[in-house]
Amino acid sequence: MTAPAVHGPAQLHGPARLYGPAALPGPRGPLSAAVLDALLRAPGSAHPEEWPPVAGVGPYSEDLHLALHLCYELHYRGLRGVATAWEWDPELLRLRARLEREFMDGLRTDAAGGDDVTSELDELLAEPVGGAGTSRRLAESGEWWQMREYFVHRSVYHHKEADPHALVIPRLHGRAKASLVAVEYDEFGAGRAEDVHAQLFVDLLGGAGLEPGYLHYLDDVPAPAIAIVNMMSMFGLHRGLRGALVGHFAAAETTTAPSSRRMVQALERLRADPACVHFYSEHVEADAVHEQVMRRDVIGGLLDDEPELAPDVVLGIQATGLLEDRLAHHLDTAWDRNTTSLLRPLDE
Ligand SMILES: [Fe+2]
Ligand SMILES: [Fe+2]
Repeated sequence: MTAPAVHGPAQLHGPARLYGPAALPGPRGPLSAAVLDALLRAPGSAHPEEWPPVAGVGPYSEDLHLALHLCYELHYRGLRGVATAWEWDPELLRLRARLEREFMDGLRTDAAGGDDVTSELDELLAEPVGGAGTSRRLAESGEWWQMREYFVHRSVYHHKEADPHALVIPRLHGRAKASLVAVEYDEFGAGRAEDVHAQLFVDLLGGAGLEPGYLHYLDDVPAPAIAIVNMMSMFGLHRGLRGALVGHFAAAETTTAPSSRRMVQALERLRADPACVHFYSEHVEADAVHEQVMRRDVIGGLLDDEPELAPDVVLGIQATGLLEDRLAHHLDTAWDRNTTSLLRPLDE
């Protein structure tokens, strides 16, 4: 992956900084190559003709998800060497809308749909989604190299843990807003920087001998894990998808307490560093409470005010299950063959 000429390679692609902006990854196809090429020029310089066609590229493809992730990262800590004005560049936003449509069409096609929020949430408890399968596998027979790969996949989310969900706050009010903010307050460390969950994950990476820099592993992580974060960003950035964001958040909180318990078992069996165990043990108790708050007060409050959002809440729950299942399937397929699940193996 060659560095673009206008900036020195070390400046753009060198070691990740702890808190961002992220180093630029290499392209994975024409769409991500076009976005990377544009971002290294002056904002306002992109033309409609330079974007490759999106239709037919596939809602879960590597190229689409890296391109979308780059567009979204401009709203978080940003990309190294990229002008901040790209965040609201109309031409880039036009491309982003096409990428989102392709992804969203795929999710709507593959999700079963419906409007029964209660039974969707009950089903999550009875029939755990993909993340649960992976934590079970890791608890029962996981090896340390698989655990480290799992951390790397999840790092693209946990570096910005709970940030995508904060985007929905201005779109809520009353009980839903007060309760979602209470959950976010815990995610953001309840007033203590050292307890911010994203920081606990940085500590976990250090404990596992992995590079803790912001999005350091973006070049290594395949689309199944990136798609989960893109889904959160897409739901968070569109007011029209606030129901889906809330549904996703509730689904995530419902499934993390039991899977975190299995992760603790796995990490203790593997005698992992205490920082690794701590990240998951912190989520066992917190998320049991968060699940109740999300269900009763956030979803309850939202649907009391806006009952017409029930199908969107269901979509958020089902899309989460769908994408978590895709990641679990990806991990199983690679690990069953005893090969890396990443785009390139980790250096030991
Ligand atoms: Fe958390
Ligand atoms: Fe939580």
